[in-house]
Amino acid sequence: MNTKHHVERKVAQPFETVFIGSEKYPWIPWVNDCYLKVLKVNPTNGQFMLMLKTPPQFTLPSHHHYGTVTVFTIQGMWSYVGHNWVAKPGDVVYEPAGSFHKPFTPPENNVPVITFNMLDGCLVFIDDDGNQLGILDWVAAAQMYYDYCAKEGIEPLDIESYDTEPSNIKPPKDLSMKLYE
Ligand SMILES: [Fe+2]
Repeated sequence: MNTKHHVERKVAQPFETVFIGSEKYPWIPWVNDCYLKVLKVNPTNGQFMLMLKTPPQFTLPSHHHYGTVTVFTIQGMWSYVGHNWVAKPGDVVYEPAGSFHKPFTPPENNVPVITFNMLDGCLVFIDDDGNQLGILDWVAAAQMYYDYCAKEGIEPLDIESYDTEPSNIKPPKDLSMKLYE
């Protein structure tokens, strides 16, 4: 064995899987009759995850992304103004950092659109005259969740932590790895 490529893992207890039962998280009224379900925010890297639910016919304001977004469609059909594709249940849309677009539903969609979104960084919403409407980042998402819980008398869940109950299943003692050679 080439020992110079031998790496020993120093972590005694790895993080366990984080389970998020989405039914425990409220749908929070957002813009244009849409709702957000904030599931997790990560203050260390700015990543956050949420679900979006829209009316059967909707348009969101144009927005610019400073980070990437991955969108998985659970229900309904949607697209961006000026694009040729239509996202349907099971489809994935990847929005690169720097992208700019305006989501909407095609006329044939007749159910609420529900998507799961993994977001990095910040979205800046712009109106049709080019004026900034506001931003959405992990801080705004967390604040939206805490404000809604306070207004509705709900005890907020810990959406900022990735710590979970330790598992009964212990990792093997030797987690050492070596590079393929
Ligand atoms: Fe977007």
